[in-house]
Amino acid sequence: MIDRVQRYGTPLYYFDGEILRDRICFLRKHIPEATDLCYAVKANPFLIKEAAPYVDRLEVCSPGEARICFDQQVPEEKMVISGVYKDPDFMQELVQQHPLIGWYTVESMSQYQLLTQLARTYGRKLKLLPRLSSGMQFGMDEKEITGILEAPDPEVEICGLQFFSGTQKTSLKKMRREMEKSSRLVRAFGLQELEFGTGFPVFYFADETFDEEAYLQGFRALLEEYAEGLTVTLELGRSITASCGTYYTTVVDTKQIGSEKFAIVDGGIHQIAYYGQFMAMKLPCMRLLPERKADAEPWNICGSLCTVNDILVKEWPTAPLSQGDVLAFEKAGAYCVTEGIALFLSRDLPAVVLKSAQDGKEHLLRAHVETNTLNEGEY
Ligand SMILES: Cc1ncc(COP(=O)(O)O)c(C=O)c1O
Repeated sequence: MIDRVQRYGTPLYYFDGEILRDRICFLRKHIPEATDLCYAVKANPFLIKEAAPYVDRLEVCSPGEARICFDQQVPEEKMVISGVYKDPDFMQELVQQHPLIGWYTVESMSQYQLLTQLARTYGRKLKLLPRLSSGMQFGMDEKEITGILEAPDPEVEICGLQFFSGTQKTSLKKMRREMEKSSRLVRAFGLQELEFGTGFPVFYFADETFDEEAYLQGFRALLEEYAEGLTVTLELGRSITASCGTYYTTVVDTKQIGSEKFAIVDGGIHQIAYYGQFMAMKLPCMRLLPERKADAEPWNICGSLCTVNDILVKEWPTAPLSQGDVLAFEKAGAYCVTEGIALFLSRDLPAVVLKSAQDGKEHLLRAHVETNTLNEGEY
């Protein structure tokens, strides 16, 4: 562990492709064989190439995500172009230059009109998945989808529905209601496919327990009950990638103020953000490197931003810390690497390394990037 830190320096994100692959196998084992998996790449675009061979689809929500997919030679057939804002110029480029793209979701009437128009202009029979709204700004109202289906444009094929209502969903009761409704509508509309975002939960903090096997068994029963005869694809991000990532940061200073012990690290909240970690109220799963035995004492772990909010952990019980110690934050494979306020204080971006399961080698996906927010300016 410590050797990778020496090799690449900190702050560092390290993603393990074997853990990613095994996690996808684990999820597949717990769902019916006929159910497909779609990787929502927003969870971690650094893992697109590594995850692509093991999933049936990749959900892509922005021009940047699409460009990464093309760059990483993801088969177009596996791509689902999604997103609440579909930039018209970019959609045109996709329809014109990437004829094999698998599906486009539809989140509004104007998206529908844009896509039917592009299908007509370029002579492409686009496959569409209208997104059924759960009441938020995403997707479309049931009535509007009904309107589309009553007189579908012959230039496109409406294959089914997409549905996603939120992340970190622990309630199988709620999931049942959503699956019942969305699968009923797919059938009522005479469609075949349901692309269903499950929002499977990830438990990030030390004191949380969750019987995932029992939860997945319950979910499987829901699929067996509601999805029979449909082509169902589960759209997942967090649950696929969280476990394969670790964030390493080095203690660069220590101090005691009154009775409080503080360790300042070279990373901070601009680089790692766990879901539900408000004001560092919870203890993430983390380790001290090198490991050592000593009486534990409470340490506050703070990053290097000039804000009182830059607290990674409050009162972490650990052996006494000193400069050069490394802290490894586990379960950092989903969202953390992209969700931070990276440019605050113009701090450098962390290095990103992937150990690929495909060739067994470490790949430096991004060296530390020096940030200079004015570097394009003439000012
Ligand atoms: C449409 C859609 N599908 C899938 C996901 C992935 O959710 P999760 O990471 O909870 O699996 C998201 C996340 O925002 C989403 O917006």
